[in-house]
Amino acid sequence: MALTGSRGSAPPPSREAEPMTKTELATEASLTVVDWIDERAQLSQGLRWMMFRKVPKGINWAYTLGSATMIAFLNQAVTGVFLAMYYRPSVTGGAYASIRYINDDVPLGQFVHGMHKWGASVMIVLIFLHMGRVFFFGAYKYPRELTWIIGVVLLILTLVMGFTGYLLPFDQRSYWATIVGVNINNTAPFIGPYLGDFLRAGPEFGATTLSRFYAIHMMLVPGLMAALIGLHLYLVAKLGISAPPWLKAQEPEVAIEKVEV
Ligand code: HEM
Repeated sequence: MALTGSRGSAPPPSREAEPMTKTELATEASLTVVDWIDERAQLSQGLRWMMFRKVPKGINWAYTLGSATMIAFLNQAVTGVFLAMYYRPSVTGGAYASIRYINDDVPLGQFVHGMHKWGASVMIVLIFLHMGRVFFFGAYKYPRELTWIIGVVLLILTLVMGFTGYLLPFDQRSYWATIVGVNINNTAPFIGPYLGDFLRAGPEFGATTLSRFYAIHMMLVPGLMAALIGLHLYLVAKLGISAPPWLKAQEPEVAIEKVEV
């Protein structure tokens, strides 16, 4: 019997292994790190559940207003952290001087301050537009009442952010406007005087008032808002986005079929 070579298929012609490029190495390394974390925390499962959802037919740009509000909130959070690195909540000239320092001397300080100040107004406009969309599309009805109630709390907290932030530059306008605002709170039935005392941090508008406003503005309310936005989005993902009212009116079976998660 003639020997015709080794048994089985012939090995592929040997080829020099090509060295990986830096980009390939970096991609592989980052994938390994992400895989390592994901194998333990299993976060991708939740992320996939949140991101890859069915949405009803016929949705339009008005449905992006909730996400736009969230981006505005994130902008406030990020710019706020940078401002907090320089801001001093001191009534004896420190607060006002630190704002001037941010605007005049810190690199990009005026830009970041502007993003925070105008971003606050943008967020208020967006949250009202989002609420209007939800209201006029009837998206607050069963089973989304809890999403709506959490939204109302988020709206109140957003306004509290605007009110407490207004005092922080501690110039003449913010000082007197806040005194008027606190006096208005003071006149609320039953809880008014307690609310006034809480906001002033005592019977008089003084040094501790600024610290109180600062603590509410940069810790208490943002923390609450972040938690509530998480819950709001969980409910949005769990219940699915509501179909536009005209679709529901015309073809209920299409709308219902598409909402299923
Ligand atoms: C910080 C404030 C808020 C954020 C970040 C936020 C975020 C979102 C997002 C991303 C969605 C899904 C997409 C969309 O429908 O636009 C949504 C849906 C919804 N939001 Fe908000 N929202 C906020 C405030 C509010 C307010 C003030 C209300 C009402 C009082 C509200 C009520 C609802 C309801 C009922 C839905 C479900 C809509 C549907 O299924 O069609 N949200 N929100």
